[in-house]
Amino acid sequence: MSRIQQVAVIGAGTMGHGIAQVAAMAGFATRITDADERVLARAHERIQGNLAGAVRREKLTQTAADAALSRIVAVPNVTEAVRQADLVIEAIVENLQAKRDLFCLLDQVTSAETVLATNTSSLSVGQIAAATGNPARVLGMHFFNPVHIMRLVELVVHSHTDNDVLASTRAVAISMGKTPIVVRDTPGFASSRLGLALGLEAMRMLEAGVASAEDIDTAMQLGYGHPMGPLRVSDLVGLDVRLQIAEYLHRELDAPHFRPPEILRDKVRRGELGKKVGKGFYEWSKNQLS
Ligand code: NAI
Repeated sequence: MSRIQQVAVIGAGTMGHGIAQVAAMAGFATRITDADERVLARAHERIQGNLAGAVRREKLTQTAADAALSRIVAVPNVTEAVRQADLVIEAIVENLQAKRDLFCLLDQVTSAETVLATNTSSLSVGQIAAATGNPARVLGMHFFNPVHIMRLVELVVHSHTDNDVLASTRAVAISMGKTPIVVRDTPGFASSRLGLALGLEAMRMLEAGVASAEDIDTAMQLGYGHPMGPLRVSDLVGLDVRLQIAEYLHRELDAPHFRPPEILRDKVRRGELGKKVGKGFYEWSKNQLS
């Protein structure tokens, strides 16, 4: 059994509120905090909404939903939020300096036994860990959006991550109903690196007129059982986000297949950023946008 009983989540935005929800649903006493009090208040509403949806769809009983909600406490002050935590999961802005500053603080205000996890989707976990006096207790815990639906968690270990820290975090992920995979701290981890390689090749194929966007996507859906084709996925993620990650992986891995295709640069230049603006590789209608 995991030695972890209390979880603190820092950052209550898109990812943080979902992480707090799955932690509470797994039975952990959960504290959530955010630098912005409005985001913190809204996180509570979003969790309530998600749980109500699960009850409506008969995935969860009302009693279980109420119990999960009662385990979550919103605490405006970071130090107060993490004081009792056995596991802290950081989900603040994707900025190395901000994360390093936070981990430096966490190192001072948590017990030496507390596991410190970052939900970073692209930054070096080792560099975040190096901001603490004990990098052995730091690892990546990379959830996927929306957290309460997506089953994958990448556990990202850097060269100093302790094996017991990995084992207890893995147990937590499993108790949240997730399937953890273990990935070495390398640019793009496993998911972004593979997903992007496929997405960029699909774009190059579209650029070369090999097939239409719909047919390229259908090839992967029906030929390989992917729930969604790589171009549609790119529209959902946002083409600006895809371009930024492609540039980063191209630079860090020095691999030609991560060089962003012209079609991607063009679309971003024209503001065709995907679903969020109504146009990317596809046209998105108004009701799909809501
Ligand atoms: P978000 O912008 O929705 O939420 C971040 C929150 O952190 C904001 O509410 C902000 O007020 C708060 N914050 C910033 N600095 C803080 C600090 N020092 N202390 C306390 N709160 C602070 O961002 P989102 O999308 O939830 O991303 C959070 C992290 O999760 C990032 O590292 C991101 O790369 C990663 N991630 C995001 C995914 C996504 O699909 N959005 C998927 C997987 C990982």
